[in-house]
Amino acid sequence: MLKTVPLAHLPFSQACENNKQPILSLLMQWFAQSNHVLEVGSGTGQHCVHFAAHLDHLHWQPSDQLTYLANLQARLAHFPLCNLADPVALDVSQSWPQFTTQVDAIYSANTLHIMSKPLVEAFFAGCGQVLATPGCVAVYGAFNYAGQYTSASNQQFDDWLKQQNPHSGIRDIEWITSLAKQHDLHLQQDVAMPANNRMLYFTR
Ligand SMILES: C[S@@+](CC[C@H](N)C(=O)[O-])C[C@H]1O[C@@H](n2cnc3c(N)ncnc32)[C@H](O)[C@@H]1O
Repeated sequence: MLKTVPLAHLPFSQACENNKQPILSLLMQWFAQSNHVLEVGSGTGQHCVHFAAHLDHLHWQPSDQLTYLANLQARLAHFPLCNLADPVALDVSQSWPQFTTQVDAIYSANTLHIMSKPLVEAFFAGCGQVLATPGCVAVYGAFNYAGQYTSASNQQFDDWLKQQNPHSGIRDIEWITSLAKQHDLHLQQDVAMPANNRMLYFTR
C-alpha cells in the first residue's frame, strides 16, 4: 500500500487515543488464547494499529462499511504490520465476508449505540455465524442498565446520538446480553472503563 495521504489529513479520534490503552489491557487477557480477530466498524483504524502492534500473536482483520475503507486503508499504509490485514468491507446487515482462516475473536468499539436496533441484531447474528467455537466477542461502548443511564454525561450523549440519527441510541446491557445468548454467546465479564464506558466479554 502507498502512503498517499499524510496522517495529519486522515480522520482522527481523540477518544480512541484516550481509550486504546485501557482497552488493550483487557484484550491482553481476553484474547490471550485467540488467533484470528475480526474487528467490526474499525472507523479511523487507530485501534487496530495499536492492538495489532501490541498483540503480535494475533492476526487482526479490520473491517468497516465501504464508505470508510479508503481512509482506513490510508491510515494502515502508515503502519505496515505483518499481523494486520488489509481492511475488508463489512456491513453487518449484508452477507459477511468469507475468511480463509476461521475467526475466533470479534472486537467492536463504539458501534452498538450508532447502529439501529435491527443492525445490532444483525451484528450478533453475524458474530454467531462467523465465530468459531470456542470463540469470544469483546464490545466497548456506553451501555444502560434496565433503561437507566449510568451518568448524566451518557444521557447527554444519548440525546446527541438521537439528534444525529433517531435510530441510534445507548443500548441496555440486558437486551445485548439476551441477543448474544441467542447466538450461544454468554456474558463473562462487564468491566467499567474510563469516561463512563464499559467493556463486555462474551464467550461460546
Ligand atoms: C463511532 S464509530 C466507531 C469507530 C471505532 N470503532 C472507534 O471506536 O472509534 C462507529 C462505527 O460503526 C460503523 N458502523 C455503523 N453501522 C455499521 C454497519 N451497518 N455495519 C458495520 N459497521 C457499521 C461505522 O462505519 C463506524 O466505523
